[in-house]
Amino acid sequence: MQLERNADLRPLTTFGVPARTKWLGRFTSVEELRALLQAPEVNGQPRLVLGGGSNMLFTRDWPGVVLMNEIPGIHMFREDAHHAWVTAGAGVVWHALVRHCVDQDWGGLENLSLIPGKVGAAPMQNIGAYGVEIKDHFDHLEALRIEDGEVVTFDREACAFGYRESFFKRAGRDRYIILSVTFRLNKAPHTLNTSYGNIQQELEQRGIASPTLRDVSDAVIAIRRSKLPDPAVTGNAGSFFKNPVVPQALAERLKETHPGLASYPAGPGEVKLAAGWLIEQAGWKGYHGNGHGVHDKQALVLVNRGGATGQAIFDLSQRILDSVRERFGVELEREVNII
Ligand code: EPU
Repeated sequence: MQLERNADLRPLTTFGVPARTKWLGRFTSVEELRALLQAPEVNGQPRLVLGGGSNMLFTRDWPGVVLMNEIPGIHMFREDAHHAWVTAGAGVVWHALVRHCVDQDWGGLENLSLIPGKVGAAPMQNIGAYGVEIKDHFDHLEALRIEDGEVVTFDREACAFGYRESFFKRAGRDRYIILSVTFRLNKAPHTLNTSYGNIQQELEQRGIASPTLRDVSDAVIAIRRSKLPDPAVTGNAGSFFKNPVVPQALAERLKETHPGLASYPAGPGEVKLAAGWLIEQAGWKGYHGNGHGVHDKQALVLVNRGGATGQAIFDLSQRILDSVRERFGVELEREVNII
């Protein structure tokens, strides 16, 4: 366990905006976490857990303690003829887990290649991409219950996963710290999920007729690299907004005036709209502000091109929200956690 005073948060988040925390604690095990929570310097202070910092925007300094989850390790939890259960520490880099599974020929997570962040953050918002969400392959997780220091197991139902949603963003917010996550993956022969987006097209371009898990993972990596900015180069937190779910009647009205509207079915009487399309139509794609702006290849992604503050990025997101509401009557919701 390590405790640092007045620490710089800029290198710990992918937006790379200036912010400091009164205390920064790092832990690599549940024992270290318990010790940190009881340390007199930080006991009773506002707490915030950070994984890869890839879904956070700091608009101010943090007045308490930021806890960096660095619990390592990937191991096989159990296996049978058809499945392998793999457990990863919350501090494992998400993409490292995905590639580990691809290397072992365990199927399920390959469409989720290259999503930034750490394993412990993945269940918080049920990360998803290219037609797969982690809930599809989730088995259980272990979390420390802060009020009594007990380790509690959550199955899929207890996590109450939804689209970029879970128990840990709602009723469980600030009450648990995720320690490890276990996924149930498929052994060969694999059923690949290549129907979403450009995966099939990317595979064809590569001349691959019967893809392996690695081929799918490589295709997803190429697609993401072509559309999404690399946080090591341009500060960002992936999609800044969720794709809004609206009543079908509203979607149909909008389609009359905007035939190009990108939408997907989302349950009875409801339709999910592509927020990136709405934001692009509202004229924001490629916007350049004072160091901040909107990515030129994907309008859902707000960027820090260098020197932007969190507050400036937040204000830009408010202007985008207002203009999409005005133009389409659709209320966008932020996906990124705002501090
Ligand atoms: N579109 C536009 N203009 C844009 C961006 C998108 O017209 O600037 C249109 C596209 O042409 C397409 C539709 O919107 O018809 C959907 O675009 P895309 O396939 O790029 O996906 P998305 O809905 O914008 C979601 C996730 C991404 C995930 C991709 C791929 C959310 C909020 N975002 O984006 O997740 O990678 O699908 O599955 O659900 C993230 O959460 O950080 C993230 C990057």
